Amino acid sequence: PDTRGAEPPDSTDLGELRSAAAGCHGCALHKGATQTVFGEGAKKAKILVVGEQPGDQEDLAGEPFVGPAGKLLDRAFEEAGFDRKTLYVTNAVKHFKFKRAERGKRRIHQKPGRTEVVACRPWLLAELRAVRPELVLLLGATAAQSLLGPKFRLTAHRGELVEAPEDVADQVPSAVATVHPSAVLRAPDRDEAYAAFVADLKAAGQTLK
Ligand code: URA
Repeated sequence: PDTRGAEPPDSTDLGELRSAAAGCHGCALHKGATQTVFGEGAKKAKILVVGEQPGDQEDLAGEPFVGPAGKLLDRAFEEAGFDRKTLYVTNAVKHFKFKRAERGKRRIHQKPGRTEVVACRPWLLAELRAVRPELVLLLGATAAQSLLGPKFRLTAHRGELVEAPEDVADQVPSAVATVHPSAVLRAPDRDEAYAAFVADLKAAGQTLK
């Protein structure tokens, strides 16, 4: 298979990493997506936030969390007292995975598989090395399992401060996992789900020095 550009350069320069990621053929998702959606935010962020993968709007804009989930996330960050200047926001998988609706052109989000998550993980680790955050905030099971391993259970450890596994311990001092903002949007009781999400963010923020 053609896996050109799959390895991040040995660099802690976010601009250099971003340019290199633009040409990544580490998995098949680059074929259907518009572009690589790399992380964005403060170079010296205290908190590095990890989502699942870009959605339809992110794929077109080239920026993470600009669609409906991103709007909810922005509101929740504000309510939890997070200053955007202290954040760097990225995704576990950096290309949009979708299928076409039978009729029309609508692109329907598909959950990335373990192969894609594993293929993209070196880019997430490279971002962690470059930003060196105090805390990693993992949004949803895909983000959590990318960093913490496939055995990690979000339902059992949601909102807890967890130790990073050994292979990334020097890049990730600590991590908190919570639900994905899209899960809040889909929840039967959205207000309750939103309040619990904000509470997790606040708790995560309180672990900072
Ligand atoms: N959902 C994600 O996980 N990431 C985005 O960037 C947008 C939606």
